[in-house]
Amino acid sequence: MDESSEQTQRVFLALWPPAEVQDHAHAVARRFVRRGRLIPARNLHVTLAFLGERGAEDLCRLAAAVDGVRGAPCTLRLDRLGCWRRRGISWLAPEQVPGALSALHASLFGALTGAGFRLARRPFVPHMTVARHSVADRDPRFEPVDWQVAEMQLVRSDLQRLGAVYTRLRSWTLAGLEPAGSAR
Ligand code: 2AM
Repeated sequence: MDESSEQTQRVFLALWPPAEVQDHAHAVARRFVRRGRLIPARNLHVTLAFLGERGAEDLCRLAAAVDGVRGAPCTLRLDRLGCWRRRGISWLAPEQVPGALSALHASLFGALTGAGFRLARRPFVPHMTVARHSVADRDPRFEPVDWQVAEMQLVRSDLQRLGAVYTRLRSWTLAGLEPAGSAR
């Protein structure tokens, strides 16, 4: 096949919360984000690794690498709301990052770089972006969002005029990380 005609998809690996967690997070954002664009509840997630534009061959290699990753389920308590003012990003994040989540990210990073994927070498700062072009109250108090994290997803992002449209392509459970099939 002519390489230049290869279709690519913009993909990332993420933790995708159940609807009740998304709704709670969205309600917290509605209360404390003062201006900007709230992310729709069903788009809320935590990114583990951003892969960017990838063709079919890369996606196969990616899935094979993730198949080899080991992880454990954990409780992720989103109990801080903050704002990176320069970037206009308001977020929910855990005060304490669960050890299992740091271990999962480290294992994923190792597997992906070992498989030849180049990832940004930044410290892992797990966060759920809840608004863009935004300003949020500083350290507000709210009922924490407790999320039983049990799987991770490969997600496609289609950037459209009204915002990103996300499609979950594949899911892995964190109890041994066996492929859990399509998430749609
Ligand atoms: P953000 O929420 O902090 O912006 C889909 O774009 C997801 O991938 C978002 O959650 C985004 O994080 C994350 N992401 C990480 N690196 C990115 C990059 N270089 N470009 C776009 N999105 C990136």
